[in-house]
Amino acid sequence: MRRNLVAGNWKMNGSLSANAALLAELKAGLGEVGCDVAVCVPSPYFAQCQSTIAGTALALGAQDVSVHVSGAYTGEVAASMLRDFDCKYVIVGHSERRAYHGETSELVAQKTLSALKSGLTPIVCVGETLAQREAGETDAVVGEQLEAVLELLDVSAIKKIVIAYEPVWAIGTGKTATPQMAQDVHAALRGKVALRDAESAAVVKILYGGSMKPDNAVELLAMPDIDGGLIGGAALKAADFLAIVAAA
Ligand code: PGA
Repeated sequence: MRRNLVAGNWKMNGSLSANAALLAELKAGLGEVGCDVAVCVPSPYFAQCQSTIAGTALALGAQDVSVHVSGAYTGEVAASMLRDFDCKYVIVGHSERRAYHGETSELVAQKTLSALKSGLTPIVCVGETLAQREAGETDAVVGEQLEAVLELLDVSAIKKIVIAYEPVWAIGTGKTATPQMAQDVHAALRGKVALRDAESAAVVKILYGGSMKPDNAVELLAMPDIDGGLIGGAALKAADFLAIVAAA
């Protein structure tokens, strides 16, 4: 039985005061949770968020990680630095980083390895554009993105990653994949993992992301291969995020 994970991706949003208010509402509303919950925050706020969520059911996550251990890499943040702030998760290969920062599947795979080496759980994002979906290339595109990562991993490491299927056309657009559309891709991704190792395929979490909201979360999360959500816009509103956590 896979335990759901609901991870908020704050992206480049927040301020000391806004974060304090959001986290206070989350802490007050969480109660008993039946799933794993995380907030992936901008790196300047790690210290604030670490201390604010200590002792709660919320885990801390980052939105990117360097492939390098340390040194002359201006602007980069090392996996060990994320660990210093008790980050448990790090998002790698988000489509915004692939699109705006030229991240290739090979680089995403290296970042996944770098996270795993430091004991972080990488949330590896894959997803197709609208043009690719309309051309019938969805399975090939997400398959290639996942394959690049799986190729670098020992069998024992595969179950330590989280996969997030995020159709690019659904991110921040209000358009969501239907539960069946998402399920089909999730099943294909799990099948891809199974080709490497059936046991890992049975336990690896595959999250859905792309305009997941309280009003579609229940249906999406009811699908057999959807093990939680990576939540952007709705993670910035405590009531919405808490409703998705409750659905999970
Ligand atoms: P969204 O973003 O929920 O705002 O669509 C999801 C994501 O980009 O992770």
